[in-house]
Formats: sequence, C-alpha cells, structure tokens
Amino acid sequence: MLIDGHGREVNYLRISVTERCNFRCQYCMPEKPFSWVPKENLLSFEELFLFVKVAIDGGVNKIRLTGGEPLLRADLDTFIKMIDEYKPGLDLALTTNAYLLPQAAQRLKDAGLKRLNISLDSLKADVAAKIAGKDVLGQVFKGIDKALEVGLKVKINMVPLKGINDDEILDILEYGKARGIKVRFIEYMENAHADQALKGMHGKEILAKVKEKHMIKALGREGASPSFNYLLEDGTEFGLIDPHKHDFCENCNRIRLTAEGNLIPCLYFDEALSIAESVKKGDIQGAADVLAKVLKDKPKENRWSEEELEDREISKRAFYETGG
Ligand code: 5AD
Ligand code: SF4
Repeated sequence: MLIDGHGREVNYLRISVTERCNFRCQYCMPEKPFSWVPKENLLSFEELFLFVKVAIDGGVNKIRLTGGEPLLRADLDTFIKMIDEYKPGLDLALTTNAYLLPQAAQRLKDAGLKRLNISLDSLKADVAAKIAGKDVLGQVFKGIDKALEVGLKVKINMVPLKGINDDEILDILEYGKARGIKVRFIEYMENAHADQALKGMHGKEILAKVKEKHMIKALGREGASPSFNYLLEDGTEFGLIDPHKHDFCENCNRIRLTAEGNLIPCLYFDEALSIAESVKKGDIQGAADVLAKVLKDKPKENRWSEEELEDREISKRAFYETGG
C-alpha cells in the first residue's frame, strides 16, 4: 500500500502520455506557437511502463491516461495492453477530446481499456469550434457514438464558460441522459496558459442553471473523487467538480506523471521530481525511491480555498502538461 506523508492511501496514477494536442481549447492552450517538449525528451512506453509496474506493485489499482490528447501518441493501445496484461482487471481509463476516437475506439477496447472521459463543451458546431480552435463537433459526436458502440463506458466533461456555452448546461445534460452517459461539469480553473479573458461559472451558478428545470438532490462525493454527485428527479446522476473548494483534498488518492517523467504530487503546486533518469537506466529501485519521496512530500491541500477566492494564485503549470 502507498501511504503519503499525511496518512492518505495513494492508489491512483494519472499519466499524461503527451502534452501535444490537436485542439486549442481556450481554457487550456489558446496561444500559438508553443515550445513543445522536444520529442527526444518524451519517455518511451517501455520507460513509462517500468514506473507503472513500480506503482502497481506498490498498490496503485487505478490508472488514467491523459494528455494533451493521448490518442496523438501512436500505439497507445500497445501501452494499454502492456498495463492490462500486467494487472488484468485494473481500473484503466482514458481522457480524450474524442477527435480520433472513431478510428481508435475498437483497438482501445480490445487492448483492455474500460472507461473514457470525453470533453464536450457545446452541442453547437460554431461554439465548439470557437472553444476548440477548429471545427471539431461532427468528429467528436462520431467518436462518442463509436465508443458507446464498442462497449466502452463513457463520461462527458463540460467546462461552462460565461457568455460562451453557459446556455447549454441543460442541453448537455439531456444529451448525456439520452445516451446513458454521466455528465460532469467542471469549474473553469484559472491558469496562466488559458485565454485570460475567460470567465468560468462558479459551481453554485452551474447548479442554479440545472435547478431552472430540475429538482436536484445532493448525493455526495464518490470515494476520493473530486466530483460531487447530484441526482435529478428522474434518476439521472450528474457530477460537479469544483476545485475552488478543497474539501476533497483530505481524501486525495492520486499522483501524476508527465510524458517527460515528472512525478507530481499535487496539481496545484509546482513541485515535482523526475523519474526519467531512473527509468532510462532500468533502475527500479531508483524509481521506487523517487515515488517514496514524492509521496512523503505530497501537500495537504490545494491552494484555492474558498476564503481566498478573490486573490487566489493562478496555476502556472499547464493542464495540457498534467492532463488536468
Ligand atoms: N479548467 C477546467 N477544466 C479544464 N480542463 C482542461 N483545462 C481546464 C481548465 N482550465 C479539463 C477539460 C477537459 C479535460 C481534459 O481537462 O474538462 O475535459
Ligand atoms: Fe487539448 Fe484537452 Fe487542452 Fe482541449 S483541454 S486543448 S482537448 S488538452
């Protein structure tokens, strides 16, 4: 079992397999050009897998692959297969923008993937294009349908933005309901890489929109998840992720690994230690030592408490590096 310096059990590893993306979402990476991490600095799947084995042997039983856009990394299904074969039955999930899913869904499912979280911020082609920086919606819809067709479990993530897609909260709920897909609304998290003119909706404002049409009942958090669940009168569940609170930090069970091998104890802090040198040498003990150190120093809670809402710190680390 992996226990951090505050006595929390850590059993969840999120791996960003690339920071590159085929979208330019305004809340994530609107500016061009970028100075991408050079390709040669990316860890190979074999190198990442060495760390994955250390983490699984320690007690990790849930892994999520993120990006950037993880499907941009060729042979992602091979990596999924490596993990699934090492620990069959592991809760293995992927976060994607769905653009490449029509071609990839079947291979991912066959490789052992169980679940997908898909970003869907609008049901209107022009609004989706404005948010993502290109015309994406047709392909995203196809990707979602394909994922359902091959039997992957799907959740949708929506980031409501004032004046952009805030009028679509109820419509996205309906879209999910019609397909048996759980929708999760995510409060926009201010960060230095986003379009600074964006205004996110507060969790309370998102709930108020839902209440315009529905009776809702608070269910609570699902284990260590940052998502707070609600129930509609017809039995539909949806989630709200409100990082501006930090009441989920006390149950935090996760660490993050970037494509170049930085092991990050908390999304909201810049601190990280690299496993790159260890895994490149095949040094299992070295990787385990870095993991132990990161766990020992994992912060107690994020820096975005409600009380500091007015002058909270803006995260400098890009979400496309850590996968959110
Ligand atoms: N605020 C909130 N959510 C974000 N995501 C990316 N950037 C942000 C941000 N600034 C989320 C999106 C997407 C997932 C990959 O990360 O919901 O679905
Ligand atoms: Fe790409 Fe996801 Fe960032 Fe959008 S939010 S630019 S899809 S990494």
